Amino acid sequence: MDSSIHGFRNLPVQERRRIIKEFSGLSDDDIASMDYRMTVDEASNMIENVFTVMDFPVGIATNFIINGKPYLIPMSIEEPSVVAACSNAAKFARPDGFYAESSASVMRGEIELYNIKEPEKAVIAILHNQDKILEMANTRSKTLKSMNAGAKSLEIRFVNNEIIVNMLIDVMDAMGANIINTMLEYVSPYIEEITGAKSNLRIMSNLTTERITRAYAKFDGKKLGEDVVNRIIMANEFAKGDIYRATTHNKGIMNGIDAVLLATMNDFRAQEANYHAYASINGYKPLTEYRKDANGDLIGSIILPVAVGTVGGSTKTSSKAMLSMKIMGVKTSNEFANILASVGLAQNFAALRALADEGIQKGHMKLHARNIAIAAGAKGDNVEKIAGELIKSGSISYSSAVEMVKKYGE
Ligand code: HMG
Repeated sequence: MDSSIHGFRNLPVQERRRIIKEFSGLSDDDIASMDYRMTVDEASNMIENVFTVMDFPVGIATNFIINGKPYLIPMSIEEPSVVAACSNAAKFARPDGFYAESSASVMRGEIELYNIKEPEKAVIAILHNQDKILEMANTRSKTLKSMNAGAKSLEIRFVNNEIIVNMLIDVMDAMGANIINTMLEYVSPYIEEITGAKSNLRIMSNLTTERITRAYAKFDGKKLGEDVVNRIIMANEFAKGDIYRATTHNKGIMNGIDAVLLATMNDFRAQEANYHAYASINGYKPLTEYRKDANGDLIGSIILPVAVGTVGGSTKTSSKAMLSMKIMGVKTSNEFANILASVGLAQNFAALRALADEGIQKGHMKLHARNIAIAAGAKGDNVEKIAGELIKSGSISYSSAVEMVKKYGE
């Protein structure tokens, strides 16, 4: 079944669910789980001092094709127009869609050594015993060892007169935090013994320069128009030269990626830190790139250090998160990373296209009108009515909405 579902937005929720069920081969139980709400007791098992549970909407981005496979992508976000924007961008990227590729899932753990009497001798001792250290680390995961993954190599750096031992670990389909920290803590007493140093921090790094995903797509130049294609490229160059613009540019990318991370209950803070650090390696830069090809089409690309897992983590403790993964039919962490990078590129393209063409307010504020009507006190059918009136009036503001609520009643 294709993910291009024209007019999905106009369908009643039950019909949307029926389509998602058919598209993703969901069961009746999966459909029933869409109405499940986490109880305060269940939430108390997840974090501390719970007193209530937060509600976030979850929408579906349509039209995506990634590496030839059609996807419906669940996105959880409080901001209107993001789901629409992604669906719109994925429509522009058709018929080919997005192409994406991810590297091996190599992560980095760090051991901080201090009190080093003879640094040169300590470094030689670590390198001389590298195989033993890696072997010891690999005793902590039978699974990774059986897949010929796990701890692969060591790197040594000096920071502030300290030795930082970096361990590079292939974590396969895991995000990797737990196993990396376990390995580091296990080998650090031995490293202390052979170097005579003391270890302080032993912790994974959230900057994953060895775990990279690349995605690109061709956006129809004829549909966009030559002027808009040129303006999008110009906008990207602007972001390269101006950190104020680059920050907003990358925030737009995260609008899309965070929404998928939230729908799958992944640690979006880790990815935020990762991408922004990666963007700043050579001075803070936009994470996407655009060029025009010989046919006048716009080629967009993104390079990101995506560190997400499909095994372990909170994804498995939430039935809604598992449902999101099932809707996408994700099998491996690389496939998931490919989706995230494609969504980031799509969201960025959609925002740049709107900014370079009619301006962001038209589409964004139109979809924001309902929120403004609700904030002004509109309820039930009046929400749609007042939102429609606000759009028609051309003044989508809180004060106009308050006036309309007075006129039409709540
Ligand atoms: P449009 O041209 O009016 O859309 O764009 P359309 O009615 O022609 O529909 C085209 C397709 O878009 C539809 O296909 C849907 O897939 C999707 P169809 O179903 O017709 O075959 N679509 C929708 N899906 C669900 N609900 C909807 C909806 N509307 C269209 N209501 C649109 C309208 C809002 C998509 C467009 O104006 C757009 O992409 N705007 C960009 C909005 C955006 O980027 N929002 C993010 C928040 S702004 C921000 O925070 C980031 C920023 O600061 C970043 C930066 O500066 O770089 C901007």
